[in-house]
Amino acid sequence: MNIDILLGLQWGDEGKGKVVDVLTPKYDVVARFQGGPNAGHSLEFNGIKHVLHIIPSGIFHREKINIIGNGVVIDPAIFEEEIKALEKMGLTPTDNLWISKKAHLILPTHRLLDAAQESKKGKNKIGSTLKGIGPTYTDKTARHGLRVGDILSEDFQERYNNLVATHKLMLKMYGFEYEEVLPKMELNYFEALNTIKKFKFIDSEYEIDDFLNNERSVLAEGAQGTLLDLEFGSYPFVTSSNTIAAGAFSGLGLAPRRCGKVVGIVKAYCTRVGAGPFPTELFDATGETLRTQGNEFGATTGRPRRCGWLDLVALKYAIMVNGVTEIALTKADVMSNFETINICTAYKVNGEITTRFINDSNAQIEPVLTPFKGWQQDISNIRNYDELPPEFKMYIQYIEKETNTKISIVSVGPDREATIVR
Ligand code: GDP
Ligand code: IMO
Ligand code: MG
Repeated sequence: MNIDILLGLQWGDEGKGKVVDVLTPKYDVVARFQGGPNAGHSLEFNGIKHVLHIIPSGIFHREKINIIGNGVVIDPAIFEEEIKALEKMGLTPTDNLWISKKAHLILPTHRLLDAAQESKKGKNKIGSTLKGIGPTYTDKTARHGLRVGDILSEDFQERYNNLVATHKLMLKMYGFEYEEVLPKMELNYFEALNTIKKFKFIDSEYEIDDFLNNERSVLAEGAQGTLLDLEFGSYPFVTSSNTIAAGAFSGLGLAPRRCGKVVGIVKAYCTRVGAGPFPTELFDATGETLRTQGNEFGATTGRPRRCGWLDLVALKYAIMVNGVTEIALTKADVMSNFETINICTAYKVNGEITTRFINDSNAQIEPVLTPFKGWQQDISNIRNYDELPPEFKMYIQYIEKETNTKISIVSVGPDREATIVR
């Protein structure tokens, strides 16, 4: 048995949470492999919307195992809040949520350092979610981070104190005042450690190997999106982990030859939160319509998302670096009233046309747009591919032809039920 990977092909918020929830019944296990509480994965059923940050989106299916892999960074305080919300719904996540001992811990001082470093950047701010992601991965690679398994060791408090002492020196250097806020954050943090201790700590590499060897299927759930990847996004306007398919192997402890399907989630237009290049961004009323109709406000920070047309150049790049085998297209219902829908098919840079993605965050990119006739019909209640309007089918077929990739799922609304599987 091989592992299937589901990930975002744009700048995050493509609808990964929704699609994972829809696909979970087909799998035995859902596993997150990177990122942390910077993610906000929404899913909806029975008229209620749920937002998950660290916990995999398969958690609402009680009989499925959910794993937080070694590549994830965990803030115990946010984890505790998520657990409480699930328990309120009558779920018992201690039964079906396992956590890698090797996942790194976000400390309260990591969050403060994130804020201090962002404010120091001035106009070059990345627009971080300020959840401590960058500083935690920095400590991981610098080899002085703390991991989930360390919580159980006798010298945990001492190691925590040592790391925090270093962080305080750094905060002082940044001129960041932590004295007032930190004690309260720490109180909350140490309480939350008691919650996380109730969970099963695992070596995800062994557990996943066992599942696959016993013909049990695993879906790896990505966070963020390909264009926010540490290596292949528009550096430095990226996140601090590998969001691409390769990240699933290091983030769970899995051999690359066990790669099964790679499902890429694509929004029918583009959004981006935070700073950085966005070639198809719309600054006009159309952009505003996408934002309001699509409810494009961050699931983690509530920030308005920047909106623009679908970018085929970036999409083809994302399909290439991930080895995407099929696409799930989301949110086309948001464009139901549009007379014309544009797709960016090339970039113009310094007067030259290119179909290659540009990672250089300083490049001045002008999108070359191809117009399509809109379907101008509400598609949110359609559940059968054949009943979709012909103009929308043409839009789908065009993307399939250009990317040479099948669109196997069409999502037409936030609810679990609003899904067409082909
Ligand atoms: P994720 O981070 O990729 O899981 O995506 P988010 O949850 O941050 O953002 C996607 C938003 O779009 C959420 O509010 C979802 O409820 C919503 N959504 C997902 N799929 C669809 C869809 O097909 N149509 C509409 N209208 N909303 C959708
Ligand atoms: P999901 O999983 C959209 C963006 C931030 C910022 C940059 C770096 O919900 O798709 P960080 O906090 O990682 O240091 O921020 O990345 N970002 C996301 N944008 N969706 C996300 O996750 C994101 N996680 C981080 O806005 O620009
Ligand atoms: Mg999100």
